[in-house]
Amino acid sequence: MSSQPATRRTVLRGAALAGAAGFGVAACDPGDGGPKAPPTPTAPIDLGAPGDVPVGGTKLYREDRVVVTQLAKGEYKAFGAVCTHAGCVVSSVEDERIKCACHGSEFDARTGKVLTGPAVAPLPAVPVRTEGGRLIVGPEA
Ligand code: FES
Repeated sequence: MSSQPATRRTVLRGAALAGAAGFGVAACDPGDGGPKAPPTPTAPIDLGAPGDVPVGGTKLYREDRVVVTQLAKGEYKAFGAVCTHAGCVVSSVEDERIKCACHGSEFDARTGKVLTGPAVAPLPAVPVRTEGGRLIVGPEA
């Protein structure tokens, strides 16, 4: 009878650790390009209609590993979406803050600068333009 609480506690502790380990794997997702993929595009990427990025807003293109902000009508800024802390692809954009769920870093969606660590380096700028009614990021072809 006296060993029952200890056994139960041990089981609960094991379940908590398993849950924490599972969260860690899911949260630190390096994205489709894998951990060795370059932090910014090495070739042009067609992101689709420029109107997908609202004026004064930001859109995360997680699969393409870029974030695009439209500062004013037709004025775009783009950044690599690979967190400069440990290489996770950032997870969301809220209130002009680009957020990384892995360890909590946040970046300014207008400048790429670090707002909250542990990251210390800004998100790298990526060339962005409109061509033929499409939003294109990355170097010229
Ligand atoms: Fe983004 Fe650590 S990888 S905060």
